[in-house]
Amino acid sequence: MIDMHTHLLPGIDDGAADWTETLRLARAAAAEGITAVVATPHHANGRDLNPACGVLELVREANDRLAAAGIPLSVRPGQEIRVHDDLLDAWSRGELLALNQSNYVLIELPPDFIPKGMPDLLHELDMLGLRAVIAHPERNAEIVRHPERLGELIEAGAHAQVTAHSLLGGFGKQIERQAWSLCERGWIHLVASDAHHIDRRGFRLLQAYERIEQELGAVWRQTAESNARRLLIGGSLDNSPVIHAGERSLWRKISGIFT
Ligand SMILES: [Fe+2]
Repeated sequence: MIDMHTHLLPGIDDGAADWTETLRLARAAAAEGITAVVATPHHANGRDLNPACGVLELVREANDRLAAAGIPLSVRPGQEIRVHDDLLDAWSRGELLALNQSNYVLIELPPDFIPKGMPDLLHELDMLGLRAVIAHPERNAEIVRHPERLGELIEAGAHAQVTAHSLLGGFGKQIERQAWSLCERGWIHLVASDAHHIDRRGFRLLQAYERIEQELGAVWRQTAESNARRLLIGGSLDNSPVIHAGERSLWRKISGIFT
């Protein structure tokens, strides 16, 4: 498995505090069957500034330390970039990183609303050959109230990533319901852990994929897993299947027969 949203680089945001925690997270990821992670430290979220050069250096060091410790996990560079007025200029100054140097950038919305300029930003990114992947839309308060507004952003060229913990109820019932509903509507392209801390917010990616297969079917799971691989090997992300009313309970019945 590939995990395209993690906070395992040490001491630069609210993820791993030091190299000991980085290595513990890396071991846990490898034990779960994750072979590569994209390190996506927060950038420009009002608290953390992690421009490209520092992230690239830490990613190099992380790979050296993991190899020395015999942990079979590859770390790739990325950022979780908060939408901000300076974003396009920051890209031209070389301060931003796409996910593993692909054409996809991980974009974080503010927690409470969708900025008015989002459609324009998507258009401008498109002009630069970039596609936005919206991080955990199920946790944005405006999308919780008006999920169709995520649909509009997808229509305008965005992609979206749901967080494993949201699907598994780690952020409460409302976010769990919203996460599954966005998946069913075909508006989610990627699943990731957004892992921050081994005990408080670990990976649970395998568990999420297993639940997805039970609830939404094997094709949905395969699409999401293959999209995550494409961030590593290149290629465009596919849309995930839309799950119509009744199909979800059917998948649950079918998987109940085999498990
Ligand atoms: Fe994150």
